[in-house]
Amino acid sequence: MAKQIKTIGVLTSGGDAPGMNAAIRAVVRTALNLGMNVKGIMRGYAGLLQEEIVDLKSSSVSNIIYHGGTILYTARCMEFMTPEGQEQGAEICRKHGIEGIVVIGGDGSFRGAGRLAALGINTIGVPGTIDLDVACSDYTIGFDTAVNTAMEAIDRVRDTSTSHERCSIIEVMGRNAGYIALWCGFANGAEDVLLPERYDGNEQMLINRIIANRKQGKKHNIIINAEGIGHSTSMARRIEAATGVETRATILGHMQRGGTPTCKDRVYASIMGAKAAMLLSEGKSNRVVAYKDGQYVDFDIQEALQMKKDIPEDQYEICKLLVR
Ligand code: ADP
Ligand code: F6P
Repeated sequence: MAKQIKTIGVLTSGGDAPGMNAAIRAVVRTALNLGMNVKGIMRGYAGLLQEEIVDLKSSSVSNIIYHGGTILYTARCMEFMTPEGQEQGAEICRKHGIEGIVVIGGDGSFRGAGRLAALGINTIGVPGTIDLDVACSDYTIGFDTAVNTAMEAIDRVRDTSTSHERCSIIEVMGRNAGYIALWCGFANGAEDVLLPERYDGNEQMLINRIIANRKQGKKHNIIINAEGIGHSTSMARRIEAATGVETRATILGHMQRGGTPTCKDRVYASIMGAKAAMLLSEGKSNRVVAYKDGQYVDFDIQEALQMKKDIPEDQYEICKLLVR
């Protein structure tokens, strides 16, 4: 039987995501209930290397569940990408009596967690990213809030776009993944949705559609463009020149990553955070908590990082069908 861990750490890494605070709260409260001490590691792996480590009590995570962002702050840390940085991180954990860490972040953060696990620090990953691009999990903390924020913003752009009888290209986040774009494509009834996984660069097709839509009497033309494709401003310029329809680009940007987490994000984050603390208490390491096929499960980190996921083709086809 694995030795019972006495002290764990928790950190948030990579881009922040609404619901991360609920996950931190769940890790802390579950661990304390299981008889473990908890330390908060500030600013992801950067804070670990700087030994920015604080004790967390149950009251430390009071009144945070409804706040966006992360109370532990987050960072991207190049130094931790090196074997020396990882060795130093493991050494600092040992110095502070941290035997296990919950890493809340995306794939990059899990790569770091895998390195720490190989160096003897038990690690459990929790998928926290608005991008939904963690292949082993059907859900990632922050996605629901981000798509709802983007959807509401796009509704507003649509009002003004319709009033001026313009075309609008609205760029949403997602890094190389098109999940936010696809969901907004559905939810906002966009005339076109451009996904990095599918877009072939055929702007003429967009132009033809705008011209055809105008002939049919459509007053607006919303194109959701994913960040992974980008170039929304120059695209707007070319489309306006080719169609004669006034065209504006709106890049939603970081507003999609902030704000009060939705109920769904709070609940998934709470369960995933609690499961991560439970796994550490059971002596498990090098695992990622995931939500897969309606169940909360966990996977080996390296196996999880090998997995692939793609935009479901049927969903993409239906999304396009609904505006034709
Ligand atoms: P995300 O976790 O959202 O995918 P990043 O890819 O930016 O975000 O990764 C967050 C951090 O995780 C990086 O800044 C770095 O500190 C760490 N990290 C990423 N890749 C690795 C790696 N291959 N080895 C060790 N640490 C890594
Ligand atoms: O991973 C979350 C995310 O918001 C991506 O959608 C985006 O590509 C990236 O982070 C932006 O990162 P930064 O905040 O460093 O500009």
